[in-house]
Amino acid sequence: MIIKILMTLYITALAGTLAWAGEDSSLTVEGQEIKISAQAPAHAENLDMVYSGWVFRTDETQSLQMDDFDNPAFVFVDEGIDLFSKVDGSEVKSCAGCHTNLADFSGLRASMPKVVDGKLLSMEDLVNGCRVKRMGADPWKWSGTEMTAMTALIGLQSRGMEIQVKIDGEAAELWKTGKELYYARVGQLDMSCANCHEDNYGNMIRADHLSQGQINGFPTYRLKNAKLNSVHGRFKGCMKNIRATPYKEGGDEFRALELYLASRGNGLSVETPSVRN
Ligand code: HEC
Ligand code: HEC
Repeated sequence: MIIKILMTLYITALAGTLAWAGEDSSLTVEGQEIKISAQAPAHAENLDMVYSGWVFRTDETQSLQMDDFDNPAFVFVDEGIDLFSKVDGSEVKSCAGCHTNLADFSGLRASMPKVVDGKLLSMEDLVNGCRVKRMGADPWKWSGTEMTAMTALIGLQSRGMEIQVKIDGEAAELWKTGKELYYARVGQLDMSCANCHEDNYGNMIRADHLSQGQINGFPTYRLKNAKLNSVHGRFKGCMKNIRATPYKEGGDEFRALELYLASRGNGLSVETPSVRN
């Protein structure tokens, strides 16, 4: 009972007065068409359509993402460019020393996370893998400023490309785990991700429009904390909001959840780096 009351207090449906742009809106960035809605993939069985979080933001927030000059995330992308050619570690190497063409990363973000040699890897793992094994450098913190700058720079190389995350083969079991976590009720409010992002997207929560919780725009610049936010960092925030003990960034639970969430966005475009509130 108490759960129901809490949820009703929390989420106020404003049917008919929804301000979200819906499927008619479109997003073009730097002349490039970004798919912000698509027919839901069959494995997201409770959704007809999938929508980017951009759709649910105010006009002002939306406009920040429509021009790279206005997009505050690009300050950090520029830092990523500097870091890319910065020599570091015992091997005295920079990323650029081996990866001579950034455009070689084109398409990578659209396939992440993915299983490599039996391990589910996020973009952060690929970056730290090279830092540790190929540069002899310390790994960067999962949601630190260097890492998010780098994942934004690499993700940008796939902007506009359709997300197509693989969920079969070696990924199948991990995907199932992610799905279970998505529907598991946790925390003092006893809520699941689905309670907000599947059952109530488009509705108001406090002063905010709930989105589907898509991750196609990550890392994302949030006006709230004026920095880039990682996927796992965002998961952590949502878990804290429902008074649950968050899983670890880079831990097995968030990896699996990332795979499941990414797959729910199959068909949307990579939007990296997005702007949200
Ligand atoms: C000594 C050479 C070397 C250095 C230095 C290096 N890398 Fe790599 N990197 C590689 C090789 C080799 C691979 C595996 C082959 C490939 O996919 O290009 C790789 C793979 C990757 C991948 C995965 C590519 C894919 O398509 O799966 C990413 C992302 C990446 N590196 C990012 C970086 C970043 C960021 C840095 C700097 C922090 C860096 N690398 C430094 C050699 C290097
Ligand atoms: C009490 C409701 C609630 C629950 C439960 C909840 N979230 Fe959220 N979440 C929000 C709100 C509010 C936002 C910010 C507005 C939006 O994009 O929906 C948000 C944003 C997000 C975003 C960012 C979307 C974007 O476009 O940038 C992701 C990803 C996300 N949540 C994932 C999760 C995951 C994973 C879980 C379960 C562990 C979860 N959320 C549980 C309320 C919730």
